Amino acid sequence: MDHTQSVQSMIGTSASMQNLFDLIKIVSQSSSNVFIRGESGTGKELVAKDLHASSLRNTKPFVAINCSAIPDHLLESELFGHVKGSFTGAISDKKGLFEEADGGTLFLDEIGDLDLSLQAKLLRVLQNKEVRPVGGIHSKHVDTRIISATHQDLKSLVKKGKFRDDLFYRLNVIPIHVPPLRRRKEDIPLLVNYFIHQYCQKNETPEIRISEEEMKRLLSYHWPGNVRELENVVERLIVLRSHETLEHSILEDSVSEQVDNLESELIEDRPTLEKLEERYIKAVLREVHNQKTKAAHVLGISRRTLYRKELLYGLT
Ligand SMILES: Nc1ncnc2c1ncn2[C@@H]1O[C@H](COP(=O)(O)OP(=O)(O)O)[C@@H](O)[C@H]1O
Ligand SMILES: [Mg+2]
Repeated sequence: MDHTQSVQSMIGTSASMQNLFDLIKIVSQSSSNVFIRGESGTGKELVAKDLHASSLRNTKPFVAINCSAIPDHLLESELFGHVKGSFTGAISDKKGLFEEADGGTLFLDEIGDLDLSLQAKLLRVLQNKEVRPVGGIHSKHVDTRIISATHQDLKSLVKKGKFRDDLFYRLNVIPIHVPPLRRRKEDIPLLVNYFIHQYCQKNETPEIRISEEEMKRLLSYHWPGNVRELENVVERLIVLRSHETLEHSILEDSVSEQVDNLESELIEDRPTLEKLEERYIKAVLREVHNQKTKAAHVLGISRRTLYRKELLYGLT
């Protein structure tokens, strides 16, 4: 078995990716619902596509929808369809995505953004394997495999009452976690060469080579935007390659925006101030190898306050 590449286009040599490929092979043999967790840009959608492509459903459609990109009132008719005249603008009957993906796979991306009333409707569809279009009176049987994904912590949304636990359990029959790129840096050289090859082939340009120095830089960066960010950096590098003198600074610019990216990562995560404080204290403690005086100094608080906060967050 060739393990560097699974069915479609996901590549990786790290142990975690090898495990992921094995899991995809096994899971693709069933029709159980799959829930994929992972930061933005780690390859969640690619996992979903691979799962579909290696399943028996691969002759039927793979349909993807981003639940956060569509306003709630349109999402319902998008998912379940509508009948003519059911609302202004419904000028004819329209099939929903569940039906479009009948026999195949429906990928519900950013499922954490689904509002509670739609969650209830989705749950009903999953339980009954039937959809009823908006404004319709008849239900139709559908055999659609559901793969859902989010970069959010769905369990904590459940705790906060923002996501139904019964729906969560239905979706989460088989959980898959795609690790961030910084936890599997062995994959970076392979991915870099893969993206160079792809890009140069598409644009019919001669393939460039990455110097050792550049690769080192790419390896030491922490990639908050994961594989998507790496793909963009490689593309930028290739496009600007002809300007030999610019090269170095381009890479430098690309991978020294750590602070900006950290900020955007935070905003995506939307932690509470308390959670953020906990995370920051943890990070600082790790950074100073748990030397309390140093940590307190960095945090601008007394050792006593630090101690109290450690107790509060269970860090001791
Ligand atoms: N292991 C991988 N091998 C090849 N390309 C990858 C891999 N992981 C991610 N990509 C590419 O990175 C980009 C982001 O992946 P995507 O699946 O959209 O991430 P997510 O859905 O987690 O945000 C896509 O262009 C995808 O093709
Ligand atoms: Mg995505």
